[in-house]
Amino acid sequence: MINVATTNTNLLARDDAHLIHPLHDRKLHERGHVWVKGDGALVTDADGREFIDGLSGLWNVTAGHGRRELAETMHDQAATLAYVSGYSGSSNRWSIELAERLAAICYPSINHFFFTSGGGEATESSIKMARAYWKLRGRPTKTKVISRIDSYHGVTMAAMSATGMSPYWPLFEPRMPGFLHIPSPYPYRYDAPAGFSEGVAAANELERAIRREGAETIAMFIAEPVQGAGGVIVPQADYFPRIREICDQYEVLLVADEVITGFGRTGKLFALDHWGIEPDIMQFAKAVTSGYFPFGGIGINDAIARTLREDGRPWMHAYTYSAHPVGCAVALRTLQIIEDECFPEQAASKGQYLLDALTSALADHPHVGNIRGKGLMCAVELVADKPTKATFPADRKVGVKVNHEAIERGLFSRVRDDIYLLAPAVVVTNEQLDRSVEILTESIGAVLR
Ligand SMILES: Cc1ncc(COP(=O)(O)O)c(C=O)c1O
Repeated sequence: MINVATTNTNLLARDDAHLIHPLHDRKLHERGHVWVKGDGALVTDADGREFIDGLSGLWNVTAGHGRRELAETMHDQAATLAYVSGYSGSSNRWSIELAERLAAICYPSINHFFFTSGGGEATESSIKMARAYWKLRGRPTKTKVISRIDSYHGVTMAAMSATGMSPYWPLFEPRMPGFLHIPSPYPYRYDAPAGFSEGVAAANELERAIRREGAETIAMFIAEPVQGAGGVIVPQADYFPRIREICDQYEVLLVADEVITGFGRTGKLFALDHWGIEPDIMQFAKAVTSGYFPFGGIGINDAIARTLREDGRPWMHAYTYSAHPVGCAVALRTLQIIEDECFPEQAASKGQYLLDALTSALADHPHVGNIRGKGLMCAVELVADKPTKATFPADRKVGVKVNHEAIERGLFSRVRDDIYLLAPAVVVTNEQLDRSVEILTESIGAVLR
């Protein structure tokens, strides 16, 4: 028997009275869901309806909902020592252990870590680190940040300026000066000039921007190894190797934003390993605690760490919750789960299973333009006209309608325009993946008969 005071509809009305949501859109929210429980790859709303959590929260709950060992770790840590400052002169055992553990598993040259409460703060920290590095190296004009169209790096002020999805900008402009965007490699839509592979041509956009602005003005290039929120854009195999060459040639720091791709989701523990290169700075968040505690950070390579240490000036960048003992303890426990349960291998095989199932169900649909993925990050891009790849007019809201149909059928995920995104928990079952594909196929059919 459902308690009327706590039905989905009733709770949504109370929600609307006082709550401002992240990405607040009251019209969309009218049909929202108030979640009360999670178990594995499933979540339950206040009316008792169960849904497949198609994006595992916001790409973060890789270990799945309801993990007792993570809840117990949080409980035990809070009872032992809930908080101490991480500022210089104050540390805690769990942050020391976490930094050691990350040094052991990250890219070989990345061995020093600064912790944050999430991804946006990680982006801010990378930008400040890159600027500080060049100042300490006696090159104070190297301050600009290059990122890509369709990128997402968070929405704090500098992170928003790096983010290349323009709908995030207008209400909050002016953006910060010194941020520029180059085209994304987007294999489905990128046209290379004759004589170049698409990956190299797309990477050369970076070289063009650096030359135009002057290398002496550029601090860093930031990129998600696989663009997530922008539509699961998997780069060409030769893209990142060429990016690494360009960054080396023009002395521009390469920052890998692994906030979604880190800790196994793409089928490798860290995603630039797919292409055999290392970043200078790596950002992480989300899966490092599987969403059980707000946590993130950056790792820097040995050259940057050496510069910071040799200079000896204080690092005047800080968050109250940097190196939070509970966050560090949960991250350590999550890393143990990732290792014990072989998350990269699981994500690789389940991701391939999902991609194959999507392809066999949808590839022939006249409005399915592209199906793509890497590990457990997949997307289905809907188009008005397959041969020309023309998009639907925005006011037809095809993506929103497909998403609504899918939610009605029990699959809860998100769209970017007309691109349907899927990134379930690593613990998802093949039956749940089959059901997700079935629901998405029916939903596309319902909207685009
Ligand atoms: C690649 C990437 N970077 C940064 C962020 C921002 O993280 P947060 O929302 O924790 O600030 C996100 C969030 O989705 C992300 O996907």
